[in-house]
Amino acid sequence: MTAFPQTIHFTGLNTPVRTEASVRNLLVEGEIPSEIEGAFFRAVPDPAHPPMFDDDHILSGDGMIARFKFDHGAVDYDIRYVETARYAAEREARRALFGQYRNPFTDDPSVAGVDRTVANTTPLWHAGRLFMTKEDGRAYRVDPTTLDTLGAWDFGGALKSETMTAHSRIDPETGELFFFGYEADGECSRAIAYGIADRDGNLVREQWFDQPYGGMIHDFAITKSRAIFPIFPTTTDLERLRAGGPKWAHEQDLTCRVGIMPRDGDVTAMRWFEGAAGASAFHIMNAFDEGDRVHLDIFVSDTNAFPFMREAGGIQRGQQEIRGAFERWTFDLTKDGSSYEVRPLGPPGDMPRIRDADTGLPYSFGWYLTVNPNGPPPLPGGPVGMTFNMLIRIDVAHCGLDALALPPGHAISEPVHVPSAAPGHDGWLLAVVDRQVGDQAFASQLWVINAGAVGAGPVAKVHVPLPLRAQVHGTWVPATQLVLAKT
Ligand SMILES: [Fe+2]
Repeated sequence: MTAFPQTIHFTGLNTPVRTEASVRNLLVEGEIPSEIEGAFFRAVPDPAHPPMFDDDHILSGDGMIARFKFDHGAVDYDIRYVETARYAAEREARRALFGQYRNPFTDDPSVAGVDRTVANTTPLWHAGRLFMTKEDGRAYRVDPTTLDTLGAWDFGGALKSETMTAHSRIDPETGELFFFGYEADGECSRAIAYGIADRDGNLVREQWFDQPYGGMIHDFAITKSRAIFPIFPTTTDLERLRAGGPKWAHEQDLTCRVGIMPRDGDVTAMRWFEGAAGASAFHIMNAFDEGDRVHLDIFVSDTNAFPFMREAGGIQRGQQEIRGAFERWTFDLTKDGSSYEVRPLGPPGDMPRIRDADTGLPYSFGWYLTVNPNGPPPLPGGPVGMTFNMLIRIDVAHCGLDALALPPGHAISEPVHVPSAAPGHDGWLLAVVDRQVGDQAFASQLWVINAGAVGAGPVAKVHVPLPLRAQVHGTWVPATQLVLAKT
């Protein structure tokens, strides 16, 4: 192809930008709180070339890493491509060589065996290193100062898994990194690798186990003593891929499963639970222990949120017809059987954020995004074709809500959380807000929001003089950590 398809994945807010840029001293409306010092890294999929197939979608976009750098009230912005093996091969050829999303059988023969990952999902900071991650490959290390790509990361040759999740977890007390990789030894493999790296970034353990079926596994959770692997019935099939078909198809009649094991134990101790048929979830707010009871706070829907994954499974449901909720799943490990308790915590939504210090521990509050049920229609865009227009702060103990409803024509991306040193202060949220200013024209701002009073609106708005393509996930790295970056 010589042009981008005129679909939701390549128009409007999803229009490819393809521009590496640096802008110093962004214009700031209001005042940046002085304790916000550091970098907000964002993962932005942005295809460098028109795709080989016109039904391609945003998840295939080449990963770009963007950075808002906060320096004594000033904000600088940079965005660069992650120079993956795939990006390098296509840049050399000046065209797309990789075919359908996660289907190597549709690639140009010249790139057979080349790493297909686009590293476009989540920036990760651990042990003084910055990575860009996507679940179909290993992480790519990026220099946090120059944003130069430093290559694929295998923990100094120690990692056996061919993949690493975009949703690892860091224990806030021990500094250990917990992660997994599914399809650990190749396309459509059921092998899952479960890895632990110590606080210095050394891989200290890697164990493998098989999942019950060939499901997509996007997120997982840790508590102080357990690792939790939720698996949903969006499945893959090697024969379908060989025939040029889609990587994922949602199976509405298949039940979801949850594996729970001792966090530092052996995978042979995994215990499997079984939940609702057809359920789907991508993101987990948090999980924690209460003795032998394990709580998992998760955003669940009654079918897959991605239209193309539903359609591949023969499910005809509009985006607005999907029902979901923010739920607490409780697993009582003293009881036999495979069932668990489910109770609602809050309205549906996604893209949750907690204080990093609360990971795996009992916690009081968190934040997430939703579509305002009483508000204007959401802007088309983002990975599922529909953006969010409301930010929620939830008190999980009391199910209390505070919300920031955006005006018509606005969309908000996943926030990051910046802790505050002030006693009793919830800290700050940083989130990009896009605003439609013309038929196909959008203006973007970075909003700084008091995390304890989201309904009060932003305390500062940072104007970005460039179009910003939709972000997937982001991460905050304080200045005190950036100075410890490993070379
Ligand atoms: Fe995600």
